[in-house]
Amino acid sequence: MKKEKLLMTPGPTMVPHEVLMAEAAPMIHHRTPEYSDLFTQLNKNLQIVFQTKNSVLTYPAVGTGGLEAAVVNFFSPGDQVLVTSIGVFGERVATIAKAFGLKVDKLAMPLGKAVTTELIEERLKTKNYRGIFVTHNETSTGAFNNIKAIGEVIKDKNILFIVDAVSSLGGLELKTDEWGIDVVVTASQKALMASPGLTFLSISDRAFEIAKTSKCPKFYWDVLKAKAAMEKPSPQNPYTPAVSLIRGVNKALELIIEEGLQEVFERHSRLAEATRHAVEALGLKLFATEGARSDVITSIKMPEGIDGEGIKKIMSEKHGVIIAGGQQDLKGKIIRIGHMGYVDEGDLIKTIAALEKALLEVGYTVTLGAGVTAARERL
Ligand SMILES: Cc1ncc(COP(=O)(O)O)c(C=O)c1O
Repeated sequence: MKKEKLLMTPGPTMVPHEVLMAEAAPMIHHRTPEYSDLFTQLNKNLQIVFQTKNSVLTYPAVGTGGLEAAVVNFFSPGDQVLVTSIGVFGERVATIAKAFGLKVDKLAMPLGKAVTTELIEERLKTKNYRGIFVTHNETSTGAFNNIKAIGEVIKDKNILFIVDAVSSLGGLELKTDEWGIDVVVTASQKALMASPGLTFLSISDRAFEIAKTSKCPKFYWDVLKAKAAMEKPSPQNPYTPAVSLIRGVNKALELIIEEGLQEVFERHSRLAEATRHAVEALGLKLFATEGARSDVITSIKMPEGIDGEGIKKIMSEKHGVIIAGGQQDLKGKIIRIGHMGYVDEGDLIKTIAALEKALLEVGYTVTLGAGVTAARERL
């Protein structure tokens, strides 16, 4: 029997049927009252899920585009910025910022760890940074940064606080306004449980003011143009929006709001706890350090002699469950189970069962059912 594979990756994630149906509705034109109504609803729903009163802009693009927008709109070549890096995505931000001529100081942590507020405080004493970039959930390692605590450290300082929430928004608590975040970047294909192709940026008034003086080259990404179009009597976008994707993500946001933001975070937390418990019951080690383990993705160290890529392949080809492997230096050494977005207990149990079988197949001694039982205990 041919069945759809279960997508337990950190994006793209599974998309609810209602969202797919919304994406499939007949096309409408983007300069019509019908589109303005849809766009107005989307903007309101985004503000609820971003927990902000700030404007949230939508661009047809992936998360990397949103990160580029966050660099080119709020800085000028030569500006000094601090980029915290706890993995691949912190590194990516540093690369983008350098590409646009910013002076980048990197505060990097060993893989698997979160950045500490003490280290940030120390760095902030050394220079007058114009901005700090922090990854909320480092998808490549399964560690997350404490954005609330970092917000406390930089509040009252004249530093723009920019958070990459591409793999966390809608899965991990993120209080944009309460935690003092100027710019939050996310994308549609992860915890927001919609198709890939949209990036979103929430932008504080202070950041919009700074955007007026930013000298980095930009055209498509100009947030002032996007804001002006959004604030017209009939809200719209400067250029053709991805209408179908907007319909889809708007439906996904409605589903999140209907479930309740706190309930959504609790579901993620429960699934993560169950995953971690199962992994340990199988005698495997978690990659991220205690206290930094994310509730949207679990990274698992592979025992000596076991190739994570092989486990991933068996889980996909024989058991219909797609997980992620390690990236760059971690390739083969870890596997990553995404439990973000449209995921429930049944999905997780199936994933753990598939992991057990794959481990057995590569010769790792495991008692079938030990992981599943441990997961069930926490669900
Ligand atoms: C934390 C984080 N930032 C940025 C990105 C880049 O997003 P995209 O692949 O949509 O460009 C990702 C993608 O996995 C991510 O996890």
